[in-house]
Amino acid sequence: MAFLEKPVVLHRHDVVIRSAVADDAEALVDYFLAVTAQSDNLTFEPDETAMFADEAMFLENLETSPNALALVAEHEGAIVGSLTFIGGTRPKVKRIGEFGITVERTWWDKGIGSALVQVLVTWAEKARIGKIHLQVRTDNPRAIALYRKFGFVDEAVLRHVLRIRGDYVDLLWMGLALGDASSEESDVSYANAAVSEVAPQRIALQGPIAIRELQPGDAQAILDYFDQIVTETDYLQLGTEGLQLSRTEEQAILSQYLQDERKLYIGAFTHEGTLVGTLS
Ligand SMILES: CC(C)(COP(=O)(O)OP(=O)(O)OC[C@H]1O[C@@H](n2cnc3c(N)ncnc32)[C@H](O)[C@@H]1OP(=O)(O)O)[C@@H](O)C(=O)NCCC(=O)NCCS
Repeated sequence: MAFLEKPVVLHRHDVVIRSAVADDAEALVDYFLAVTAQSDNLTFEPDETAMFADEAMFLENLETSPNALALVAEHEGAIVGSLTFIGGTRPKVKRIGEFGITVERTWWDKGIGSALVQVLVTWAEKARIGKIHLQVRTDNPRAIALYRKFGFVDEAVLRHVLRIRGDYVDLLWMGLALGDASSEESDVSYANAAVSEVAPQRIALQGPIAIRELQPGDAQAILDYFDQIVTETDYLQLGTEGLQLSRTEEQAILSQYLQDERKLYIGAFTHEGTLVGTLS
């Protein structure tokens, strides 16, 4: 269980930090819609109510997830702050995760954000999370100061990610290594990693390769393909656990891709119809 065992009380402001539960869904959605109108620093906008349609189920799922945490800060029964951390689902990434945080504007600079991050870091160490990530606008000094105070370091700048009122905004990717991960010095030379590999044998293709959008009817071929490639490379987030999807589930995913114009899932097939490459 990812639950905070007991609430944390900020006596100075009569604020309590506790785990969010499914019953908080309605109040949390109202809170999110209010804070989005107060700040341009969030990735969602006030009219994006659809993204909160299943908030109760979302919170219920987090309650049972060992590497997720949902917190609320409450003052006299009203939500004044929130933090959500979600860890990866696959074995290779389940010890890292990303969080988002908000505090209601009239409560800024009173230590609530710091208290929420402190609870997250304490919980993460206990939950054996190796690394916490976040993305923040490069022009959000209050949030960046808060994260640096807890030891988060700048890892990368992602250029032109958000478009706000016609202007592109950059995001700073920050990270905090915990426990074992902090002692793992990065001595990996990516260039060397690539050249030290055994040079692949080039195989002359017998016939053309066709690249086309994948269809629900390709579901089994995709499952077989991924079962194969996870044994051939370590460079994917996906490990030897494989996709862990039934054919019907894969078919449903493929249908979603076809219906959503922002999504693309294509495959490369040999002239004999064998799937030999994908991009999504
Ligand atoms: C960012 C946010 C979560 C911080 O919460 P908060 O409760 O105000 O945070 P705290 O009061 O604990 O800490 C704020 C720190 O920033 C510092 N700060 C405030 N304005 C600052 C500025 N312009 N430059 C540098 N530091 C600043 C404060 O002094 C304080 O540091 P201190 O504890 O060392 O004194 C909150 O302001 C918020 O919800 N903002 C809008 C949404 C948002 O930006 N979310 C984060 C997206 S990544």
